Amino acid sequence: MTLAAALAAAVGPEHVLIDRDLRASFETDWTGRFTGTARAVVRPASTGQVARVLAACAEAGVPVVVQGGNTGLVGGGVPGPDPAGDPPILLVTTRLTELCAVSPAARQVTAGAGVRLAALAAHARSAGLDFGVDLAARDSATVGGMVATNAGGIKVLRHGSMREQVAGVEAALADGRVISRLDGLAKDSTGYDLGHLLAGSEGTLAVITRLRLRLVAREDGRAVAFVAVRDTAAAVGLLAALRARLAGISAAELCFDAGLTLVGRHLGVPVPLAGTGGAYVLIEVAAQADPLDDLLAALQACDQVIDATVASSATERARLWQLREAHTEAISVAGLPVKLDVSVPAGRLAELVGALPEAVAVAAPAAQLVVFGHLAEANLHVNILQADAGEVTSAVLALVAGLGGSISSEHGIGRAKARYLGLSRSQAEIELMRAVKAAFDPLGLLNPGVLFPVPPRA
Ligand code: FAD
Ligand code: MLT
Ligand code: ZN
Repeated sequence: MTLAAALAAAVGPEHVLIDRDLRASFETDWTGRFTGTARAVVRPASTGQVARVLAACAEAGVPVVVQGGNTGLVGGGVPGPDPAGDPPILLVTTRLTELCAVSPAARQVTAGAGVRLAALAAHARSAGLDFGVDLAARDSATVGGMVATNAGGIKVLRHGSMREQVAGVEAALADGRVISRLDGLAKDSTGYDLGHLLAGSEGTLAVITRLRLRLVAREDGRAVAFVAVRDTAAAVGLLAALRARLAGISAAELCFDAGLTLVGRHLGVPVPLAGTGGAYVLIEVAAQADPLDDLLAALQACDQVIDATVASSATERARLWQLREAHTEAISVAGLPVKLDVSVPAGRLAELVGALPEAVAVAAPAAQLVVFGHLAEANLHVNILQADAGEVTSAVLALVAGLGGSISSEHGIGRAKARYLGLSRSQAEIELMRAVKAAFDPLGLLNPGVLFPVPPRA
């Protein structure tokens, strides 16, 4: 049986897209920077179908690239420029949309890997709970992709990254075998935690097909403040001062005038406090009861505050959040950015922000630098417009490594940063990770070129 026939038998011919026009939207990533050619796009609807697709590809020796919502920002979910000219099958998980009933006792739910974040969150809230990870791509990003990249987002300081939400994983291996541990046991020490090994594996070890996810308490009392401060050091100081006074801080984001100007222009909205600060902090507090008074009192006690606007109604909160969440789109409308997603030790964030303009100007004198990010994790999104990717990437990642930071804080390595992995991981660690990859995927068929540079074909 040919591969095409085996794939059609596995998922149904209508879910094997061969025609170029039908494949196109899947073959380019969200940023528009990464694109490639797939032999076909295949859309399985169950773990069993995923397993059959993988077994057929293994039999034929054809590589497979896994794609969820295609909102990844490091090129990991689209075909790469395969040196051997061997186009992969693009396995898209968005038909894996099973959503089981929430278990209130366990505070867990089983979800298909293709379930969108927004759908999961709504499902949790309808059961009186909530989901601990949130990010602006919530309408498109899938829970499988979010585990595969160990996504962070805007609530990490309260609930951790995606890895911390995983209570169990079902996945199909490159040869078609399936591993499954979805009981969500509170305690289970029976050898290596293979499920958590898949968190952050970026499609290189297995295809996650279903997840057992932890849920958190739903807190309907919310208040948001948008605060102008003198500079990044003052922003770090403000967060520390607020944390000493407020128990329920659920988000702390950092912006600057350059990004806010692009957002105001993109959305056609006025930016409150524009030009009044050297940095801006968006703080959200979540609790069972309305925390507005507590937030106002805490802000009044912080001398880092130059000025602030505070919101408690859902509409007003959304308006302030849009100032932060529209950065990605506004920057992409302004051009094709080199996107870097870095983190440094908390005490060195101001040093990084201060050193970036010169580091970028030396590498790309005409470049426009736009930074923003997740203040609580000292995670900065460094976007550089009008610049050669290689030059500025090397300059910025070398600066970050020199400050003891990470070259990828939450987006993953993908194809974009594979050749820089050694800046954040030791040679011994990379050799060990390659050995794990070889154990899971001995033929190297899953996401070649993601996380590790593609070795020259034997
Ligand atoms: P895809 O982009 O389809 O794939 C991402 C990676 O995961 C690829 O390597 C792919 O091969 C692999 N993969 C996908 N599904 C599976 C699976 N089932 N099994 C195994 N591997 C799989 N990210 C953050 O961390 N924090 C943010 O705040 C954030 N904000 C964003 C805002 C915007 C506007 C956009 C466009 C993106 C943002 N992202 C953010 C990036 C992106 O949303 C995350 O990386 C997300 O986890 C990707 O999920 P996805 O389903 O789109 O995966
Ligand atoms: C964000 O925090 O908005 C995302 O990580 C997306 C980005 O970095 O552009
Ligand atoms: Zn982010």
